[in-house]
Amino acid sequence: MFDLTGKTALITGATGGIGRAIAKTLNAQGANLILTDVNQEALDAFKAELGDKVAVFAGDITNPDDVKSLLNFSKEHFENIDILINNAGITKDTLSMRMTDDMWDAVLRVNLTAGFRLTREILPQMMKKRWGRIVSMASIVGVIGNLGQANYAASKAGLIAMTKSVAQEVAGRGITANCIAPGFIATPMTENLPDNVKQAMLDRIPMKRMGTPQDIANVVAFLASEESAYITGQTINVNGGMLML
Ligand SMILES: NC(=O)c1ccc[n+]([C@@H]2O[C@H](COP(=O)([O-])OP(=O)(O)OC[C@H]3O[C@@H](n4cnc5c(N)ncnc54)[C@H](O)[C@@H]3O)[C@@H](O)[C@H]2O)c1
Repeated sequence: MFDLTGKTALITGATGGIGRAIAKTLNAQGANLILTDVNQEALDAFKAELGDKVAVFAGDITNPDDVKSLLNFSKEHFENIDILINNAGITKDTLSMRMTDDMWDAVLRVNLTAGFRLTREILPQMMKKRWGRIVSMASIVGVIGNLGQANYAASKAGLIAMTKSVAQEVAGRGITANCIAPGFIATPMTENLPDNVKQAMLDRIPMKRMGTPQDIANVVAFLASEESAYITGQTINVNGGMLML
């Protein structure tokens, strides 16, 4: 698809449904990978599947010390990070009237603050090389909102606005920053939804199917590549037609 030979990509949430597909796809395009997530065993097993151009680091991306260690770790393995994929995300859903401060803060910390912190810490390497790609996983919910997801929607809308701001700051340095807004994708995040909720979602999708993690990974591969050089500050909606902008 797109040649990423010689580039190094850092992927957060790398053992989740979408993260795995992104890692496999970028690996197949020739990229070196630094994969991070919370569970060491899951990461080790995934590395064994992917081979030697892969380094794995277990940590919590909301913890600044873990982020520092992650960046030191990546320097030891690969010279530079060229591609940052802010993919880790969580939900803590309930109606706004019942949403506690903890539920709000936890989602904002993972989905938005951690993505910003990683972006800030990795940008100097990209500026120096005058090349970089930042791809952040937003959501259709960050564009249109969703009942029961005020925290999640706000975090994803924040990611979209953060991306537009960063994109303007670094556009002159060969660095692009974009978001992908997936619709309804079949992953562990969505498999536990009740059947009636799933059916209601499917009824709203013109393509009449859930998306696959690969549908998302294909777009990541493009946004991470040389070929997407003139696209920045954008949000690419990948949703089977569920929302047409
Ligand atoms: N599945 C969908 O339908 C869908 C739709 C729109 C957007 N998204 C977004 O896509 C991204 C990936 O989602 P997914 O469906 O693969 O979810 P997932 O739950 O399968 O994967 C998310 C991964 O993030 C990791 N993670 C969570 N908190 C972390 C932390 N503090 N530190 C490090 N890692 C952490 C988890 O361990 C998990 O492996 C998320 O940002 C999600 O919001 C998913």
